Amino acid sequence: MNESTNSKKRVEQLREEINRHNQNYYQYDAPQIPDADYDALMRELQLLETENPHLISDDSPTQRVGSAPLESFQQVQHEVPMLSLDNAFDDDEFEAFDKRVRDRVGLLNKVEYLVEPKLDGLAISLLYIDGVFVRAATRGDGKIGENVTENVKTISAIPLRLKGDNLPKTIEVRGEVFMPLSGFEKLNREAARLSEKPFVNPRNAAAGSLRQLDSTITAKRSLAFYAYGIGVFEGYELPQTQQELFELLDDWGVPICDQVSVETGMEQCHKAYQRLGEKRALLPYEIDGVVYKVNDFALQKSIGFVSRAPRWAIARKFPAQEKTTEVVSIDVQVGRTGAITPVARLAPVFVGGVTVTNVTLHNEGELRRKDVRVGDTVIVRRAGDVIPEIVSVVLEKRKSNAPIFEMPIECPVCGSTIERAEGEAVARCPAGLFCQAQVKESIKHFASRKAMDVDGLGDKLVEQLVSEGLVKTPADLYVLTQDQLSGLDRLADKSANNLIVALEKSKSTTLAKFLYALGIREVGEVTAASLAQHFGQLEALQQATAQSLERVPDVGPIVAQHVVAFFELAHNRAVISSLQELGVHWPDVSRVSDSEQALAGKVFVLTGTLSIMGRVEAKDALQLLGGKVTGSVSKKTDYVVAGEEAGSKLNKALSLGVTVLSEEDFVELIGAHQGSSQ
Ligand code: IVH
Repeated sequence: MNESTNSKKRVEQLREEINRHNQNYYQYDAPQIPDADYDALMRELQLLETENPHLISDDSPTQRVGSAPLESFQQVQHEVPMLSLDNAFDDDEFEAFDKRVRDRVGLLNKVEYLVEPKLDGLAISLLYIDGVFVRAATRGDGKIGENVTENVKTISAIPLRLKGDNLPKTIEVRGEVFMPLSGFEKLNREAARLSEKPFVNPRNAAAGSLRQLDSTITAKRSLAFYAYGIGVFEGYELPQTQQELFELLDDWGVPICDQVSVETGMEQCHKAYQRLGEKRALLPYEIDGVVYKVNDFALQKSIGFVSRAPRWAIARKFPAQEKTTEVVSIDVQVGRTGAITPVARLAPVFVGGVTVTNVTLHNEGELRRKDVRVGDTVIVRRAGDVIPEIVSVVLEKRKSNAPIFEMPIECPVCGSTIERAEGEAVARCPAGLFCQAQVKESIKHFASRKAMDVDGLGDKLVEQLVSEGLVKTPADLYVLTQDQLSGLDRLADKSANNLIVALEKSKSTTLAKFLYALGIREVGEVTAASLAQHFGQLEALQQATAQSLERVPDVGPIVAQHVVAFFELAHNRAVISSLQELGVHWPDVSRVSDSEQALAGKVFVLTGTLSIMGRVEAKDALQLLGGKVTGSVSKKTDYVVAGEEAGSKLNKALSLGVTVLSEEDFVELIGAHQGSSQ
């Protein structure tokens, strides 16, 4: 045997051995060798491949180190949409789901469910052709995601080649990429060492790590994966149940969570939920609930799905978590619109999956009601994605001399006397753009992702630019020079140059984003989009009266007043002109005339509990499509949308012969028209 055959053999041996250890570690959670031995095997393989480049193959474990940075992510169209899940928040909601499932298929017997942890990471699609991993994509909006193949290759838990001989021609494995708690803690320790901003939770850290254009960064992060389903597949007869699918995926070397069980009927399902809830704190990764899926694929098929989520699965979220901690200090912050917000600084506490150090107390009224004082022990709660809050003070632990917190009379930043309008909960600094805090916040807002999207202009940098007097209005951003930027603390030449490029790029925007970026009070993203759509041109909006503004969907008298007041200020008009002169531009908005809107003039009544969209969202969506929502059913009503437990309005609709839509039908109707009017 010559040397080259020897190397080839050894390379194959090493790859097999390393893959086996990966599997023991990630799939079975049972490492067989110490990390140092594993590293030695990897080094040996790397060396052999460097000496014999012709032996390098795409699926070698050495190829998981990342590759040259990408310019941007390519888009990937999901042939089978990646759906989301509906939520149930208590036993009753889950039982109502089970009833809907049985009603749909006319089943009286108990249904068999597969119960899985709801992993707190991000959904990913992995495409295998002839058993070889070829592409990974994020979920995106469910229809179009981003191609993150290079990044996913670096995740050792994900097999680059499926095991076995009997494999499908094509299979798209779907599951969750997540960051184990140990990896998360390590990453944040490192961030603290480098005085960088820590990640708030493992999910954000996982998402941030996967969406890196430079995959060598992803390679350094600890990420794991569990599969929970499939998308496209070809050339294989699938098993009959979700459980058997998991067994098959497991045979192919795809990691499956070991906390999965099959349960029949409500009692067993509730118990499984309790069990996982109790285990939650012991698991090495974050879960935020359980997912119930009808186990039988044939049943799943006949139950079907609505545009957003399957009808045969539901997520049952765990309740909010509560912890106690101490109030270190209470500060007041000045927001973009001058709002004065008291904020409690806390001794760091890990609750509901995030480390909480600051909690807003919203306004003086709230602060008084809760009577939070410096030195108090407080109960902090965080549920799901909701911002953390102080539930109450533990009064028994209050020190006898703890002084009541008094709100300042003057703005802590500019010294102006704080005002509180009659009937308003919020106190404000009235100095507007003469107050540096408000300038800083408006610039941060202007540059933010959903506004002008200036990449690389972070909060710290904005603060420096404003403090140094380089930026007073958003227009000043566009005259910054490379020299001015390079002179700032901690900003390397390269970043300064990148920022200039990003600013230039941001000049090309849309009217909706520009309006949102202006930071007009009460004009959020949706309202800005409605205004842009309705007026088509900035000039028309600038001249609009409160009355004409109120004709825009989503705009009431208060918003209309704020818009008028904003454009009346000479300073604001001057900034807008400068921005346009400096090259900020957008394409003309093709106005959708009222008669062209898909649901123009149609009158809707919403009744019962709408659990998929929620009432406010449903109303917004309808209004954007030109529909009207009224409170009572009459002959003029075109549609009644009947949610759970709809009562008298539904009866009236039936007696008048008005078309009744189930919530699912309604969501489909909206889905079919959304986008058609843009
Ligand atoms: S199934 C067709 N199973 O939750 C159903 N999703 O809220 C699609 N998730 O986008 C999802 N753990 O990212 C499923 N065991 C699990 C899950 C899970 C976490 C995520 C997934 C999905 C989101 C929906």
